[in-house]
Amino acid sequence: MVAVESVNQILKQALAEISVCEDLSMLDGLRVRYLGKKGEITSLSRSLGSMEHEQRKAFGQAVNRAKGEVAQAVTARRQDLESVELNIRLAAESIDVTLPGRGQQRGGLHPVTYTLQRMTEIFSRLGYDVATGPEVEDDYYNFESLNFPPHHPARAMHDTFYFGDGRLLRTHTSPVQIREMKKRGAPIRIVSPGKVFRSDSDQTHTPMFHQLEGLLVGETVSMADLKGVLQVFVNAFFEKDLPMRFRPSYFPFTEPSAEVDITWDRGDGKAPGWLEILGCGMVHPNVLKACDIDSEKYVGYAFGMGAERMAMLRYGVSDLRQLFENDVRFLRQFH
Ligand code: PHE
Repeated sequence: MVAVESVNQILKQALAEISVCEDLSMLDGLRVRYLGKKGEITSLSRSLGSMEHEQRKAFGQAVNRAKGEVAQAVTARRQDLESVELNIRLAAESIDVTLPGRGQQRGGLHPVTYTLQRMTEIFSRLGYDVATGPEVEDDYYNFESLNFPPHHPARAMHDTFYFGDGRLLRTHTSPVQIREMKKRGAPIRIVSPGKVFRSDSDQTHTPMFHQLEGLLVGETVSMADLKGVLQVFVNAFFEKDLPMRFRPSYFPFTEPSAEVDITWDRGDGKAPGWLEILGCGMVHPNVLKACDIDSEKYVGYAFGMGAERMAMLRYGVSDLRQLFENDVRFLRQFH
């Protein structure tokens, strides 16, 4: 029975070493040392051949039991070590969800968008419907129907982007009044905000800018009505009473036509001077006719203004380019 004793001896030693093993790769080393092909317990089986039947039986059982116990001990120890390791990792990688977050940058609308919305809203309150139209137009809607005769110099003033196939980028929002009058007839009262395009780029011009066009057609509409509504608008937009004047001007689609100036303090210490902010006039009968509206019965007024200019005045922006550079340090001030 000495042989069985020695099996138990090895078993005891193996279990003891496994139980204090602190490292997964060392544990695997122990497994190989005892249970591997040339392992201490595996090698014991080799001596079976030279044993008597009785002894062989007892010895074989002892070896098998030892193999089973060691294997079980290795597995159990591995699970322990793995869960310890996992817990250490979890503790190291844990996130404290109660910590304050890094915070989100709040976005905001562009000052020109705010301005266009503000302009539109003031006219909405005055009963104007909001109408929009395509940015890609053709000669008919952008010029011809608006009483620009062919080859008239007023077309050249518009620095038009042409596609070469008869289409063009609209140079003003006035084509929307044609589309709406054709669709809805008279009486009508609309404003149309939107992008317009002119092949012009310097300190005070950008190839794309925004306009708001207004149109009112009815049976008893006068230039005095036009002046009144614009004064109401200007006072509402700038939130103060600003003296305003009409100056004779020319647009093919209005007759008579005027440009509107407001008094403006340029902040240079001098007395406030006149500053042009928009164009307007009484709708030319040819424009009404182009839209199948009876120009004997109906009259109308129209006006158009640039949103960038209004934004600069309202917010005190001195350089138009700031509105297009999209520098967040500039834009953030308007949130
Ligand atoms: N459409 C003109 C422009 O862009 C502005 C305008 C609109 C003038 C309506 C008179 C009436 O220059």
